[in-house]
Amino acid sequence: MHFIASLNDIRSLTRDLHRRGKIVTLVPTMGALHAGHLSLVRRAKADGGAVIVSIFVNPAQFGPSEDYARYPRNLDRDCEALAPFEPEAVFVPDASEIYPPGFETYVTPGKVAEEFEGSVRPGHFRGVATVVLKLLNLVTPDAAYFGQKDFQQTAVLRRMVADLDIGTRLVICPTVREPDGLALSSRNAYLDPDDRRAAVVLYRSLCCARELFHNGETNADTLVAAVREVVEAERRAEVVYATVVKPDALEPAARVTPGCVALVAARVGPARLIDNMILGPAGASDEELIQLALSSS
Ligand code: PAF
Repeated sequence: MHFIASLNDIRSLTRDLHRRGKIVTLVPTMGALHAGHLSLVRRAKADGGAVIVSIFVNPAQFGPSEDYARYPRNLDRDCEALAPFEPEAVFVPDASEIYPPGFETYVTPGKVAEEFEGSVRPGHFRGVATVVLKLLNLVTPDAAYFGQKDFQQTAVLRRMVADLDIGTRLVICPTVREPDGLALSSRNAYLDPDDRRAAVVLYRSLCCARELFHNGETNADTLVAAVREVVEAERRAEVVYATVVKPDALEPAARVTPGCVALVAARVGPARLIDNMILGPAGASDEELIQLALSSS
């Protein structure tokens, strides 16, 4: 496992891999790796080729009052967690190389980035799209892996890859959950035990929407009202947004059809948590639901 910090070194490594006819894949992360990230690495490994894992806490995707400074960082632990997967390289660039003095060119995503996370975190998706494009340019991977947990991020990146004719295939992998259903997130570390217990309400609210949908309810307002009601019943949680949207442009879905996605964000104690669920036939696997959402685009 190479440990690479310099942009020139990652370029020459991936150029060499391509020259040798290898498939190259990328798992972009901000570190603080948990089982969700490791599931992306496992999937990339299973798909074959040389896996590059990037670890970069991207300042451009944090607002001025957000948690950039205190975002959890533990490179030694991350490398230990990655070692059993034997990635080809861990790429840990420095912010001064990614954003050198004079840097002023950004990717501005369109409508898909405006609402939900985009309106709560102005500039966030501009930062995400910019750094992901830079990573794709540096690594030139055949495929890059992202978690369904950040559903809007996957929609923004799918749009960018299509609009800018980027040759990398994006692979979306199912959300990994704690046994009680809470979606894994590096920000769960901010929760105290009581908030942690309360945080499962996001998953429970989505399960409620799913159950209504399985029972034939296709009115989005009814599903959204149910999500809100479940979250609001938990006094430690406060809804930031709840919606059911079409999976590509994230436009409102008046009538909910298979492949539509329920999105919820709530503040629980000091953390703002997000989760989502793709609605589809009862019994469909997470993978099948992702394929359904991607093909309903
Ligand atoms: O999902 C994340 O961890 C980040 O947004 C990403 C894609 C690594 C870009 O910084």
